[in-house]
Amino acid sequence: MNKKIIQYRNEQLKNDTTGHSIDHINRVIKLTKKILETEPVADIEMTILAANLHDIIDEKLVEDVQVARQNLKEFLIEQNFSNEQISQLFYIIDNISYAKSLDEPVVLPLEGQIVQDADRLDAIGAIGIARAFYYGGSKGNKLYDFTQNPRKDMTHAQYREESNVINHFYEKLFLLKDLMNTTEGKRLAQKRTEYMKNFIEELKSEI
Ligand code: ADP
Ligand code: NI
Repeated sequence: MNKKIIQYRNEQLKNDTTGHSIDHINRVIKLTKKILETEPVADIEMTILAANLHDIIDEKLVEDVQVARQNLKEFLIEQNFSNEQISQLFYIIDNISYAKSLDEPVVLPLEGQIVQDADRLDAIGAIGIARAFYYGGSKGNKLYDFTQNPRKDMTHAQYREESNVINHFYEKLFLLKDLMNTTEGKRLAQKRTEYMKNFIEELKSEI
């Protein structure tokens, strides 16, 4: 990947405290490459570009999404990406997040489907457990509160209202395996979900 893109991405993500650090991006890139091996039709360059930039204009990370979008667009023009590539990239990164998918169903191109699977895989399994507690801690959320039932069929706005960490598993993390796009994504999600289920059962029994 072009060094300038890596630099731009690192600069934008350096102050993150919510689990969207460069480490997250690097894991997503690895998973993206793994899924790409099983999806020969995908445009590799676009897929890796989207994996690198998928969190750059996220509502959780930037103060002003419009400003972040404009900066990214100008940067990509400077890097000689075509208008078509830029629109394709924005379509993917604007529609990739789980929160966004709660508002309306979106059909992503294959390249976006692959990165979405990779991003979701990084939210589940052992790493997903670590990230959920890290995120909950960063927001000052409780570990658990059994007086509150997990919410069902949340809207985007409800999803952004904080819940306790254990409920987050029921509200999102256990649901992801049925939302995977690719065959390889499904396979990996199955394994990671079993691991999380065992963990939550054990945790509840200790509590
Ligand atoms: P998306 O980027 O798909 O919108 P998020 O950015 O909301 O997803 O989630 C990023 C990470 O933060 C994930 O690992 C997710 O599990 C975690 N996370 C998000 N909301 C919560 C929450 N309320 N409690 C615990 N973890 C959360
Ligand atoms: Ni991400």
